Amino acid sequence: MTDKLELVRKYHEENALERLFVGSKELEIKLMHICGMADIAMEIASVYKANFDRELLKLCALHHDDGRVLQYKYLGNFNDRELSHNELGAMALNQWCIKNKITPDSAIHVLRDVMMYHGRLALCECRVTWESRPYIEIISDADDIENGCIGAVGYLLNECRTDAKGYNTTHPEHFGKIKPELWAFYELGQWFDKMKYCESYAEYVLFAATLAMKSIKKYGWIAKKAMLKPSYGYASALQGYEDIFSQVMSYEDAKHAINVLRKACTVEE
Ligand SMILES: [Fe+2]
Ligand SMILES: [Fe+2]
Repeated sequence: MTDKLELVRKYHEENALERLFVGSKELEIKLMHICGMADIAMEIASVYKANFDRELLKLCALHHDDGRVLQYKYLGNFNDRELSHNELGAMALNQWCIKNKITPDSAIHVLRDVMMYHGRLALCECRVTWESRPYIEIISDADDIENGCIGAVGYLLNECRTDAKGYNTTHPEHFGKIKPELWAFYELGQWFDKMKYCESYAEYVLFAATLAMKSIKKYGWIAKKAMLKPSYGYASALQGYEDIFSQVMSYEDAKHAINVLRKACTVEE
């Protein structure tokens, strides 16, 4: 597939991450997320053999969140409910093709699908081609591991305190209640649509922790290793979650949430 990557490589060269993700602390944090998740994507790929090109996978990982740059430029934040970074990324790639008079080839289509559908495969299943599917799956899972098991402890508290997501804060002392069905999703490690279910910051934090639970359930040691590594000033991401739960949830909710996560991290495979 090597020469089939010519156009994607050209896109990569002309849209270097170090030039795109600059100018604010928030974009630099996104760049850390991208580099971390690209490593995880390659780690998953080395364990789980599938029908894909490793170089294309790496390029898709590096550019899956390009839409964040435009989103930040327009909104000053990363609120997908206002403006989807998935759609902005795919649109920017389309415009790059038009500007360069490029007819998209199959690798460009895969990159575009990864930008458009990562994290949304369950919602857009029918629109994804068989060729793009394994790339979207691995990128989405690596994204969940980085977001849920590493990055979350770096941004969650700040997002809650600055009201970055516009959720209800009817109980500001602990950033809201948690619906019973979300506890069930969390304990099972079952992904749910945060746009549909989350109404408070406590629920939003539980969503991030649910990604961690889902990742541990699906990828075992790859996700546990990420959870137990030092992260954003904490001795481990697990310890980070303990602190965050205690700050955004009621005492009882926080105790339950950390017990579930701690147990998942220590259970032998
Ligand atoms: Fe993304
Ligand atoms: Fe991402």
